[in-house]
Amino acid sequence: MIQIPGIIDPHVHVREPGATHKEDWDSATAAALAGGVTMLLAMPNTRPPVTDADTLQLALDSASARARCDYAQFLGAGADNAASAAPLAGRVAGLKMYLDQTYGPLRLDELHTWMEHFTHWPETAPIAVHAEGRTLAAVILVAMLHDHPLHVCHVATQEEILLIRAAKEKGFPITCEVTPHHLFLSTEDLPRLPGGRGEVRPRLARPQDVQALWDNLDVIDCFATDHAPHTLAEKYGPNPPPGFPGLETALPLYLTALAGGRLTLDDIITRCYTNPRRIFGLPEQPQTWVEIDPAARGEIRAADGYTRCAWTPFEGFPVQGKITRVVLRGQEVFKNGQVLAQPGTGRDIRSRSYLSQ
Ligand code: DOR
Ligand code: ZN
Ligand code: ZN
Repeated sequence: MIQIPGIIDPHVHVREPGATHKEDWDSATAAALAGGVTMLLAMPNTRPPVTDADTLQLALDSASARARCDYAQFLGAGADNAASAAPLAGRVAGLKMYLDQTYGPLRLDELHTWMEHFTHWPETAPIAVHAEGRTLAAVILVAMLHDHPLHVCHVATQEEILLIRAAKEKGFPITCEVTPHHLFLSTEDLPRLPGGRGEVRPRLARPQDVQALWDNLDVIDCFATDHAPHTLAEKYGPNPPPGFPGLETALPLYLTALAGGRLTLDDIITRCYTNPRRIFGLPEQPQTWVEIDPAARGEIRAADGYTRCAWTPFEGFPVQGKITRVVLRGQEVFKNGQVLAQPGTGRDIRSRSYLSQ
């Protein structure tokens, strides 16, 4: 048996409020615990998007009623909320800026709006960006001009990881995350993912891009699922939305890479716990850990999962390494395939009363 700290997933689309047919705080956090994730940071591209005090309260009320693991909510950067968002910084995971087209209404087109957000958002509070290719180069410059640390979501290509390496080598405080689908899937998997199943942003990249991520593992600060559930009916429909579920399959995939000698246990713990805690300023979860049987072999099956979207792009993948038990703040919350935590037992790690409730 191996024991590791509770996994922190800094990039999860919970879908509540607004799209609970895809997922909600109950099903997302059940999937999280089944995947060894004891703390998640929730993205703001919900309906309505989380961009002000009222919509933040709406999201936090849903979370407080139904979450089974600990969490914080991101605030979304909008066209006109730069000044009003800043006072909320202490209550959220960070500010999320969508700078390229993806799912939801939060894309920021205007460079002056980017500048306003970097001007207002407190220096010590995290900013995470969806920025691909040249957009990434542009936002690195804007962050540098404001002396603001930058966290880059879901790096997918060789040019992006090399750009981040170059910025790090100049001493710029930039950090980044990579998803399991960009580490373990490429354009060569698209024939296996018909209809809109293969749609995701950033898109699955060429095998040489995937290789570049592995070759530059030292530049990758975090592994983050970008768990983005959509139903199969939507994925096969006329305008398939981009996104893959990932909460339950990520750790088994990393453990399989561990068994194959591609990752060390330290590689996993650093990127799934130590670095997310440092980058987002997250508290320790006392008496919290994940137990793993490193020898157990199996196959990824969506039918075994808790996510409401009920599919996975990794269907049938052979895996080695099984999560046998999860303990969160002293409570057994997952054992032998069963989620034992009740909805409403998860806590907001940004609330002043975290740990004293
Ligand atoms: O594929 C994606 N899906 N990429 C994103 O940036 C958003 C996400 C979603 O919310 O569905
Ligand atoms: Zn994104
Ligand atoms: Zn995302």
